[in-house]
Amino acid sequence: MALNIVIMAAGKGTRMKSATPKVLHKLAGRSLLAHVLKSCEPLAAQARIVITGHGAEQVEAAVAADGISFVRQMPQLGTGHAIQQAVPALQGEGTTLILNGDVPLIETATAKALIDACAGHALVLLTVDLFDPTGYGRIIRDPDDGGVLAIVEHKDATPEQRLIHEGYSGMMAAPTGALKRWVGQLKNDNAQGEYYLTDIVAMAVAEGLPVLGIKAHSETEVLGVNDPVQLAQLERAFQAAQAETLMRAGVRLADPARFDLRGTLTHGQDVEIDVNCVFEGQVELGDGVRIGANCVIRNAKIAAGARIHEFTHIDGEATGASVGEGALIGPFARLRPGAQLGAEVHIGNFVEVKNSTLAKGAKANHLAYLGDATVGERVNYGAGAITANYDGANKHRTTIGDDVHVGSNCVLVAPVTLGAGATIGGGSTITKDVKPGELAVARGKQVALAGWVRPTKKR
Ligand code: UD1
Ligand code: CA
Repeated sequence: MALNIVIMAAGKGTRMKSATPKVLHKLAGRSLLAHVLKSCEPLAAQARIVITGHGAEQVEAAVAADGISFVRQMPQLGTGHAIQQAVPALQGEGTTLILNGDVPLIETATAKALIDACAGHALVLLTVDLFDPTGYGRIIRDPDDGGVLAIVEHKDATPEQRLIHEGYSGMMAAPTGALKRWVGQLKNDNAQGEYYLTDIVAMAVAEGLPVLGIKAHSETEVLGVNDPVQLAQLERAFQAAQAETLMRAGVRLADPARFDLRGTLTHGQDVEIDVNCVFEGQVELGDGVRIGANCVIRNAKIAAGARIHEFTHIDGEATGASVGEGALIGPFARLRPGAQLGAEVHIGNFVEVKNSTLAKGAKANHLAYLGDATVGERVNYGAGAITANYDGANKHRTTIGDDVHVGSNCVLVAPVTLGAGATIGGGSTITKDVKPGELAVARGKQVALAGWVRPTKKR
């Protein structure tokens, strides 16, 4: 049976007080609308329609993908009016699932339950029992048999109806043909002068169609975002759930309340993560990896036994970054895209590595820069050494052979090659290749002036 999924995302989101359309605000690094699209990705739909209006161009550009179409609603005259705009795009006679772009944590299983219960002929509402249902449409049930009779919007509800705690989540599954007919009959003679989608419930009841209410199993999956407070609350709920999943899988988090994952974290056994760490994109942590407090790690692979000390920043961006087995990184280290560190590499404080490969056991322990470099095994890269990899127009590579020692405060002007076992005297500016085993010194010679007298202040 044909399935249409319609996501309403045209509203302004006034209470966010932001220039960014509400559905593009981020939860765990992904937009609210992208969360909704991700939850309904596993559902085999003929059409996925996003209704846009406020900030339409921006919203469409942000989530455009194969199989997603957009329908514009201008101006925005209510949820019923939104669905009216989608009518021409609805396919077949099966089921239409309606979701909200600002309710990000709807679960796939719940959406599937709505679709299955609808089966192309019943109207199925996702409802939720709320401690404080203020603002929500209330589910009016038959006092005799408990059947759903109507939804009454909060602003239109009588004081008695406002005592009802069962609210409408804003999500439903409807028979497509009937839905098209019903939305064509909506009127806006209500407290808000809007076309309410929720008015179709009474129409279905009048036609004798089955109307079912399915209760959400958690409040979190139906919570909407209307302001920054709700956004932050939902973010915490989502992070807490992710943290719990990781801890149940064996990851030891020093404090689940001070852990943020904005993407995917895969891990081996005995991984330990101290407080205030942020993981973004795709991060892989091998067995026994330990991450110190206050690290930010994005798009990176950390191999087994590696230790990332406090305040380290690793950002692989699109290329990725990798840390080898047993490596020691930080504190205060910075690994950038294309940093590929072999086993037992040491990167110490205030060392930056970009687009460089370091072979097993290479060390850069203090205040250094390695950019566009290939570094051999056991190299010792001194404090304050840098690769001058950029000539103002192009980037050039530096190649450092196995067992090279680069003294402190050296400038390696690329392109340049230091042969295996070479030694570079401290303070050298190296512009020519150095042969294996040689000592290269390129700095002003030290002079000693005997009998020199330090100047004294004139009177
Ligand atoms: C709606 C429901 C209410 C329910 C509540 C749950 C109606 C009439 N009421 O109320 O019963 O309890 O959700 O959160 O449906 N939108 C458009 N175009 C519009 C208006 C809204 O696309 O013209 C979109 C919004 O962007 C949002 C969703 O529809 O994603 C819901 O709109 P909102 O204004 O938040 O509805 P509520 O008044 O909260
Ligand atoms: Ca709302």
